[in-house]
Parts: sequence; C-alpha cells; structure tokens
Amino acid sequence: MMKHWKRLSHAEQDRRITAALEQNIDFRSQLSLGIPASRLDGQVFQESAPFLKDAPLLRTYVQNPNHIGCHTLGESEPFFAGTQALEQEVIAILGEDLLHAEAGGCDGYVASGGTEANMQAAWMYRNLFLHQYGAQHGEIALLSSTDTHYSVAKAANLLHLRWLQVPVAHTTRELQEAALVQIIQQAMATGIRYFIVFANMATTMFGSVDNPDVYANALRQAGAEFRMHVDGAFGGFIYPVSTPDNKLDFRNPDVSSVTLDAHKMLQAPYGTGIFLCRKDLMHHVYTEEAQYVAGMDITLSGSRSGANAIAVWMILATYGPFGYLEKINKLLYRTNWCCRALDALGIAYYRHPRMNIITLEAKGVPATVASQFGLVPDTHTGQPNWYKIVVMEHVEIEHLEAFVAAVQESAV
Ligand SMILES: Cc1ncc(COP(=O)(O)O)c(C=O)c1O
Repeated sequence: MMKHWKRLSHAEQDRRITAALEQNIDFRSQLSLGIPASRLDGQVFQESAPFLKDAPLLRTYVQNPNHIGCHTLGESEPFFAGTQALEQEVIAILGEDLLHAEAGGCDGYVASGGTEANMQAAWMYRNLFLHQYGAQHGEIALLSSTDTHYSVAKAANLLHLRWLQVPVAHTTRELQEAALVQIIQQAMATGIRYFIVFANMATTMFGSVDNPDVYANALRQAGAEFRMHVDGAFGGFIYPVSTPDNKLDFRNPDVSSVTLDAHKMLQAPYGTGIFLCRKDLMHHVYTEEAQYVAGMDITLSGSRSGANAIAVWMILATYGPFGYLEKINKLLYRTNWCCRALDALGIAYYRHPRMNIITLEAKGVPATVASQFGLVPDTHTGQPNWYKIVVMEHVEIEHLEAFVAAVQESAV
C-alpha cells in the first residue's frame, strides 16, 4: 500500500506546481536585495512565450528555484519553500513507498547524479567512523565488488581511503565469498577496522545484484564494524519494482543509505541522482563554516536546481505506482524475448532474471555487429570480453529481432 505515491492528472500536477511556485519568492514583486539569485535572464528566456502556460516544468526553470541544502531535516532557505516541499514528497515516495523506510524515517536530496550520491554516502560514513569511533583515516576502507561502478574509485581517491575489491564469479557475477573473507582478514591485519560497503542493486555492465548478507555475514564474523550503502543508480528504479521482496531496501537493518538515479531508468533530465539515508546520519557531513545559508549545509553539492526535483515529481505522479509497474514489465518482457532468441541460437550471455540488461560474451558477437547496433563493450582499450544491451524505452522488439538476425547471419 502506497502512502505517498499517487497518480495525478496533468491538470492536478499543474495546479500543485503552480501553487508551489507561488509560495516561492517572486523576484518581480517581492523585495530581495541580498540573495545572489534571480529568474532566468528574461532577454533570453522570455516569460511571455505562450507554451509556458501549459508547461509547469518550464515555468519552474524560468523561475529558477535554488534547492541548496537538504529539505528533510532542519531549516532550509525560506525563499523556495514551495518547490522544496515537492522535493520532500519525492524523498518520501522513494524512501518509504519504493524502499520501505518507516514513516518519516528517511533523509535525502536530489543530487547531481549517481556519482555524487555515492560520494555523499562514502563521505558520511567516513566522518561517522571518525566522529563516533575515533577512527583514523588509515583504518577505514571502502569495500565492493570488481563489477562496481568507478564512482566508488573516485570516492576512495577523493576521501583518501583504501578501496578493496571483491572478485565475482565469471558466469553468475556473484560475490566470491571465500575471497571476501580473505580480503577482510588481510585488510584487518594491515590495520583496517572500519568498512564502508557498497552493495550493487544492479551493476552497470551486467545488471547483477549483490546479496548484502554475504558482506554482512563475513564482516560480522570477522568482528569488523561496517555501514552499508546500496548503489541503485541503475537498478534502483527497476529492481525494487520487479522484485518487491528484496534485501536491498530499508527493511534490511544493515542497509543505511541508497543511491537512485532518476536520469537513467526514470528518463528524467540529467541532474537527478537521488541520495537517501536513514535519519540521524546526514549530520556527519555538516559544514559549520556555511553560516550565511539558512539551514544546515550537509550535501556535497551546493546550489542545485529545484526544477530537477519537480521533473522527478512529475514523472512519478504521471505514472503512479501501477503505471510504472506496467512500464517496467514491458521492458522485462522485451528483455525476456531477446534472451529466448539468444538461447535458441546458443549465444552465451549473463542476465539477472529481474533486470533489463543482457551482457553477451564478446566471442559470440562480431565486432561489426556490435558496432552496427550500438552495443556497449566492457572496455574501450583492447579486446572486449563482453558487450551489453540495455533494454530502455526506445529499444523495441523489432530492434532486438534485427540484432539477433544479424548475429545469426554472421555465424553462417
Ligand atoms: C551502478 C552505477 N552507479 C553510479 C553511476 C554513476 O552515475 P552518474 O553518471 O549519474 O554520476 C552509474 C552510471 O552509470 C552506475 O551505473
């Protein structure tokens, strides 16, 4: 049962967004001498354009609200309270209805992307270990699989932490438990005592999903302290929908935070990564020096467009939970179709049964066919081992059929 996620007509969405914009500051009629912000430049973005009347998102862009900070805790800049409230709704829908946090149990914000949301998590847990456990930097490590997105490598580099990579099995892409145990033992022998785990809710190249219990059990057995973040940048808008009974949301007490990217599966504009975490964690990244901004500075990015939150809110409201489930089922249907066709040809591939990625062994696909159909290789330097197909909205069965036929022809 959804508490917050409801389908709304276009007219209702327009009414809600118009009301939100009216609650925000209107630079034309309200005196505001101090804030370094205004509407978009009227010479370029003309407000009288007739199409704006029926386009609440474009009107939001023109009004240009700044959603600096995090609006689920403490105070926020009062000038943009109307649209900030819609961002709060987005966080409640995703945290509570999609990822099953308890009522009011989630903080979060619309970040620039999955990279930022993953960094926010690593930064938050590093500081938690420093503050709560008196840890030294050298005692904290990031831990994830070799299939993990490179944003975790970036986070390790920026935060000056070690990154430990756990190998996965070639055909199942599952974490290799024995190797994990050894990696933890070796790390602890060299002084690592605190682990920040990145569990994948669908990896970039394979769409494979990590079992978080494998990490939790190994770390508990080793007597190590850990916190776990789920990287759902790609799979976060598909896996929880296709697999309602899963271990990677807030029902699992080991999961403390999640990245989702609306600008991938939700087809939102870029700049809509979403960071979600349990209450009582964000304050670990509070910047005391940010005194002139109302509210706490606890996000990696500073100023950010409120229009991005509105875009996500509109997509969620347009589909509603059932419409969105149908959309995901359509993509899975197409993915199933393609897998059956590949099976009939005996072409080897990896596919998680609840995900929309098919990753083919490169030896089964001639490079010319891969390039003709725009498949993405696992490496751009040297010989690829894998090519992936991501079944997005624009990838239809006709396209998949043509691809399978081209593979078949190349084999004769
Ligand atoms: C699993 C995963 N995490 C993080 C990211 C980074 O997301 P962004 O490009 O939005 O920063 C990606 C991007 O492909 C991803 O697939």
